[in-house]
Order: sequence, then structure tokens, then C-alpha cells
Amino acid sequence: MKRNAFIVFLSLLFAISCSKNEITPEDNYGPYNPTPVEMKVPAYFPIVTLPDDNPLTTEGIALGRKLYYDKIVDATHTNSCSSCHQQANAFSSPQPGLNVIQHQNLAWSRYFLWNGMLDSTLEDAMLFEVKDFLKTNLDDLNANEEYKKLFWQAFGVTTITYKEEAYAIAQFLRTAETSDSRYDRSLRHEIFLTDEELEGYTLFFTEKGDCFHCHPSPLFTDQQFRNNGLDATYTADNWGRYEVTGDPADMGKYKSPSLRNCELTAPYMHDGRYQTLEEVVEFYNSGVHLSPTVDPIMTKPGKENGLQLNEEQKHALVAFLKALTDSSFINNTDLSSPF
Ligand code: HEC
Ligand code: HEC
Repeated sequence: MKRNAFIVFLSLLFAISCSKNEITPEDNYGPYNPTPVEMKVPAYFPIVTLPDDNPLTTEGIALGRKLYYDKIVDATHTNSCSSCHQQANAFSSPQPGLNVIQHQNLAWSRYFLWNGMLDSTLEDAMLFEVKDFLKTNLDDLNANEEYKKLFWQAFGVTTITYKEEAYAIAQFLRTAETSDSRYDRSLRHEIFLTDEELEGYTLFFTEKGDCFHCHPSPLFTDQQFRNNGLDATYTADNWGRYEVTGDPADMGKYKSPSLRNCELTAPYMHDGRYQTLEEVVEFYNSGVHLSPTVDPIMTKPGKENGLQLNEEQKHALVAFLKALTDSSFINNTDLSSPF
């Protein structure tokens, strides 16, 4: 009896001392109670599928934004995402030879990277970026009290893993939505395009210029892999989609990039071979190379001698491409560095 009472006393003492010493994450970092955010989807955009396991929250987006601009995501602390994906360039880079794909409207993306190597959700694509590409040192994040707090508040975790890191950045990138160019404003009847822009619009969306099959509105990408005739022969440098599938029919095919904000995303093409939109238009006008995998659209009857655009039409096409520039997007402070 005495002995039992002693044991009860001991376990009581243990329980009390435990409850006193055990500091919960709430004590340290406040409640885990993330605030839901509704994704902004313009009325004329396709429906977007959001993952059940990574809903948008104020806390998740803010954390993703901080990570995007922080060199802590790089094992060697050399680069942040924003070192190569700069907002002023629609989150691409003007650096020659880097060929960085812009980050915009990624919520609608089906494949990632020029050759579509990442056939995945945005979450899995981000997992690749942080784990395999920049190889974040998770000890750096876990030793950082500020991040511990932010990850707790966004995801309710006390140990940060690649998963939460990737999920936060995916949330942030879903908010990098662009739909306020002059073209969009004209669709919403807020402005009129100039006569020159309208002429370019007509060239773009008719068989004359024939751009719209691969770069259709509203995203200005068809999310397919196409060979637009940049080269006539193939080496390891321009295999494109073939690198992923091993199918000879995919030789020289690349993801059709979105042309939104293309005024800001030079240099152009997967290898950055063109510096200006004028050069790109001249390529489509007179420089398309034939090869067994060139897209049938490039060799339609009537195109044997190129598009045969005159100078005025080439200027008009460029003017229309520039009407896809969204200055609200590149100046949106919600997307800029929090540091
Ligand atoms: C050293 C420069 C560099 C850094 C740092 C960098 N990227 Fe990139 N990123 C690129 C390049 C170059 C490409 C295109 C590569 C390709 O397609 O082969 C790219 C492509 C992408 C794409 C594909 C976009 C699409 O539409 O297919 C995503 C998404 C992306 N990066 C996210 C990130 C994130 C997130 C970070 C930070 C964790 C990051 N990147 C850091 C250079 C960089
Ligand atoms: C058969 C499909 C197809 C057609 C038609 C087409 N494009 Fe493209 N476009 C592509 C592909 C694919 C790429 C990327 C190719 C690469 O990088 O190797 C591209 C790249 C571009 C780029 C560079 C974008 C960047 O971020 O680097 C511009 C600008 C462009 N196209 C404009 C046009 C215009 C203007 C027209 C009409 C005159 C047009 N395209 C017609 C498929 C097409």
C-alpha cells in the first residue's frame, strides 16, 4: 500500500514536472491556424485545379515569397530563385546563355522546363528545384528560429522538410498571375488597341502570321511540345523533348513558351539565340528550317517561301507582342522581395 502510494506520488510529480517543462510549438510560435486565400482566376482563363493537400493560405504564400528571395534555399548560399528569375523580366533572366523560363501563370502549367522533363504538379516541380537543383541544406532552415516559426504557422510542422519548402514556393508561384496587359484591358473593354497593335493582332490570330495555333490566348501557350523549325539538324544541344522520351519523332521539340510579357524575357528560344522580338519575327517570316520533325503548321501550303510579311506587318506583329506586357505584374509588390 505504502509502495503503491509512493508510485502514485512519483507519477504525479512526473506528470506535473512534464507539463511544466514541455513547451509546445504554440508557446513558441503561436497558433497553427492558417488563413485561406482564394486564387484569382480571370473570367476568360481556363479553370485551374488546385491541389487538395496544398491550399493557398496567407501564411504559406508569404513564406514561399520569403524563400524565393532567400539564398538559404541554395546549399552553398550562392543563389536565390530570384537570382535567375527576376520580376522585372517576368521572372526570367536577361543573362545571355541562361535561357531561364519565365514564371507566370504557372498555376495552369502542365509540364515544366523547356523539354518538359518535369511532367508533374507544381508541388513536385518545386520539390525538384529545392531538393535536386539547389539542394537546400535543411539544417540551415531548421536552425533558423524565424523560419521554424513561419513553417509552423503555415504548415503546422516543427521539423522542416523539402516537402513544406516546396509547397510554400508552389503557393507563392500560383499567385504570380498575369492578366493585366493592354491586350487584357482591351478584352475587358477598358481600352482600345492602337491600329498598329490591331493589325498585329489580326496577323497573330489568322493564318497569315499563324502564331495562335501554338501560342493561343489567353495563356499564349498550348502547353505542347513543338518543333518550330529553328534548326535543320540535331545534336545533343538541341534534342529537346527527345532527351526525355527517346522518341525520334520528338527531336527538336520544345515546350511552346507563353508569349505573355515576351517584351521582357529576352534572350529568346531555349538557347537564347535571338536578342530581340524583331529577330524572332524575322525568323518566323523567312528563317524556318525544315527537318523530319518540324511542325506541320510550319509547312502548310502557302508557306513555302515563308510568311512573306512586309515591313509594316512585321512592325505590327511586334507591336501586338508588346501589347502582352503587363506592367502591373512586374510592379506587383506582393511578388517582390520581402527583404
Ligand atoms: C542559376 C539560375 C537558376 C536558379 C537559381 C533557379 N532557376 Fe529556375 N530555371 C532556371 C533555368 C535556366 C530554367 C530553364 C531550364 C530548362 O528548362 O532546362 C529554369 C526553369 C524553372 C522552372 C520551369 C518553368 C516552366 O514554365 O517550365 C521553374 C518552375 C523554376 N525554374 C523554378 C525555380 C525555383 C522555385 C527556384 C528556387 C528554388 C529556381 N527556379 C532557381 C534557372 C534558375
Ligand atoms: C508550330 C508551333 C509554333 C508556331 C506556329 C509559332 N510558334 Fe513561337 N514558339 C514555338 C516554340 C516551340 C517555341 C520555343 C522553341 C525553342 O525554344 O526551341 C517558340 C518560341 C517563340 C518565342 C520566344 C519566346 C521565349 O520566351 O523565348 C516567340 C517570341 C515566339 N515564339 C513568337 C511567335 C510568333 C510571333 C509566331 C507567329 C509568327 C509564332 N511564335 C509561331 C512554337 C510555335
